[in-house]
Amino acid sequence: MTTGRQEAATVEPALELRGVSKSFGGAHALREVDFTLLPGEVHALAGMNGAGKSTLVEVVCGALAPDDGEILVGGASCPTLTPRRARALGVSIVHQRRTLVPDLTVAENLLLGRLPHRAGRVDWSTVRNEAASALDDLGVEVPVQAAVGDLTPAQQTLVEIAREVHVGGRILILDEPTAALGGADAARIHDLVRELRSRGTAVVYISHHLDEVLALADRITVMRDGRTALTEAIENVDLPALVRAMIGDRLVAEPVVRKRTFGVAALELDQLGGDRLRDFDLTIRAGEIVAVLGPAGDAQRELFPLLSGVRQPSTGTVRVGGNRLRTGSIRASLSAGLRCVTGDRLVNGLVPGLSVDENLALADRGMKRPWLVRWAVLHRRAADTRRRYGVITLAADPAVDSLSGGNQQKVLLAKWLDTETTVCLLEEPTSGVDVAAKADIHQMVDELADRGAAVLLTSADVDEVRRLADRVVVIRGGRAVAELHRGELSRDDLVSLTVGGHVS
Ligand SMILES: Nc1ncnc2c1ncn2[C@@H]1O[C@H](COP(=O)(O)OP(=O)(O)OP(=O)(O)O)[C@@H](O)[C@H]1O
Ligand SMILES: [Mg+2]
Repeated sequence: MTTGRQEAATVEPALELRGVSKSFGGAHALREVDFTLLPGEVHALAGMNGAGKSTLVEVVCGALAPDDGEILVGGASCPTLTPRRARALGVSIVHQRRTLVPDLTVAENLLLGRLPHRAGRVDWSTVRNEAASALDDLGVEVPVQAAVGDLTPAQQTLVEIAREVHVGGRILILDEPTAALGGADAARIHDLVRELRSRGTAVVYISHHLDEVLALADRITVMRDGRTALTEAIENVDLPALVRAMIGDRLVAEPVVRKRTFGVAALELDQLGGDRLRDFDLTIRAGEIVAVLGPAGDAQRELFPLLSGVRQPSTGTVRVGGNRLRTGSIRASLSAGLRCVTGDRLVNGLVPGLSVDENLALADRGMKRPWLVRWAVLHRRAADTRRRYGVITLAADPAVDSLSGGNQQKVLLAKWLDTETTVCLLEEPTSGVDVAAKADIHQMVDELADRGAAVLLTSADVDEVRRLADRVVVIRGGRAVAELHRGELSRDDLVSLTVGGHVS
């Protein structure tokens, strides 16, 4: 295999950035960044939360205008790059926040904005055929007539990549495509990336999973505080070198070991049922962390809406702290002390128009005086929370939607983990966060359990499950089929369970 470095001398870069800077209201997100991407290379982009990775690629795809510097696509300088112009030049992007429309079908999403017409009407049979052949061409097996909202997260990502490839991108940017995906699903994305590379597509691949990056990429650039800290051929780096480049001289705290003493039953599910979930029994005691795992798309995804009150169970009862919960009511779940930290931060957790401190105040009991917002107190309390959770922002109190993905996740966790919690439901708690923040969040979850909360966790990251869980319940076809205890949780077994296999 030829490496990016060997080619660098002879091949014209597909993309080049020279001294690109970008600031938001005086805060520097990018500082004089140089970057080259060669045709047919997978170039990984790594760095801590807030390092500037997403900003860099949003500049390349014309969504953000740089303050300074030059962008060249295929050797030609592009002084004013709009999203339309970038697309015409063959730059495609799968954003960190997914953009498919859940209520539309796969075919409609694939051809959105370009639906073929005949005699003044949308030509649906051409839509289906074109979508099917676009997916087929990339070896993606997803039914074109399915609603995107019914697909698994991995299928949604595959469809989104297929859509971008279909519009003819020679440069494909993937911003954390595997953030919430488990091993087998991530492997499908990697296969697709390798296939595209073999066709000559140049790929920018952003990820916090450094092991996958080491296995997939040809070159890597590490960003730190808006600058490039390192660019190397992948065979010249290893994990410790990458982590060093990412964190610089920042200190990473040593983990404190949890007590693991369990109290009375805090969450009791008796014969709980939903659309797919069947006769599900589960008891979690105060201080205990239980992970519910299953193949992607199985009924574990239903537990959170059923327990948080978003949906009404079809059968069964729920007890929280010994009291029967009125199901199907978000308010009843909240006042029973049930907290739900779900995967989609901006849909289910944070209020986009509000600032970081205002978001934190929403769940803060000390601040429940809607007729009188005590701003000084609000900012003081929030500043304390931000410090403890390591939420890094460039401005004093920016809108929560302007934060980098990983910092949004920290705000969301801080918002809920700081409140009085009997039961905490955690869905993919470290999706999209960097290595240091991940260790911090694991510590936060441990502390929450030590304070007496019962924690129900779902995560596609088996190392995270092994790190946190006292017990793992396995779901298959809507039913609980096995239970494993801490000490029995081998990595291979957990990987096998999440793809529908058996424990050896
Ligand atoms: N629209 C915006 N307004 C204000 N600040 C912003 C905006 N977009 C990004 N920032 C800030 O720029 C910095 C870089 O953010 P960016 O999203 O590029 O980080 P990232 O490396 O992608 O991090 P993550 O791994 O968490 O996704 C962050 O401090 C972020 O808060
Ligand atoms: Mg980002």
